[in-house]
Amino acid sequence: MEKNMSAFSPCTLDDKVEEILRRYPASKRSAAMPVLHLIQENCGHIPADALEWAAGKLDMQPVQLMELVTFYPMYRQRPAGRYHIKVCRTLSCTLNGGKSLLDHLLRRLGVGLDETTSDGRFSVSQVECLASCHVSPCLMINDELHEGMTQEKIDAILSRCA
Ligand code: FES
Repeated sequence: MEKNMSAFSPCTLDDKVEEILRRYPASKRSAAMPVLHLIQENCGHIPADALEWAAGKLDMQPVQLMELVTFYPMYRQRPAGRYHIKVCRTLSCTLNGGKSLLDHLLRRLGVGLDETTSDGRFSVSQVECLASCHVSPCLMINDELHEGMTQEKIDAILSRCA
């Protein structure tokens, strides 16, 4: 569940970007979102120097990539905590207690939405439907989906996060 963050290092991503670009032979810019995902997977967020580098690879201007990064909530411009908790804010989860779950999390961790705890362990944000509406409310911790959440369940999970 824990996610390691690392600084942006273009040479480690060159081969993977080339592989992505081969999937979009007609237009390099069509690979923009997969390339941004790749950067975020490797860095934990999308640093400014990575945007410049990716723009060069995609024959785009950095500002065009920045438009994507600021439009889509799944992209982060700042590093998240070691455990990035993403609470679903869509209808089923909201109707089944997602908002009070979010309030509980923020209160327990002492942070605001999209903030990181001072020890760098936890960040909390909201996301759209996680496709598990039938067992709502749901959240993700890094890449792990947690369904049918309650305050007691989230407390138990938090206590296991070192
Ligand atoms: S509404 Fe939350 S998982 Fe679909």
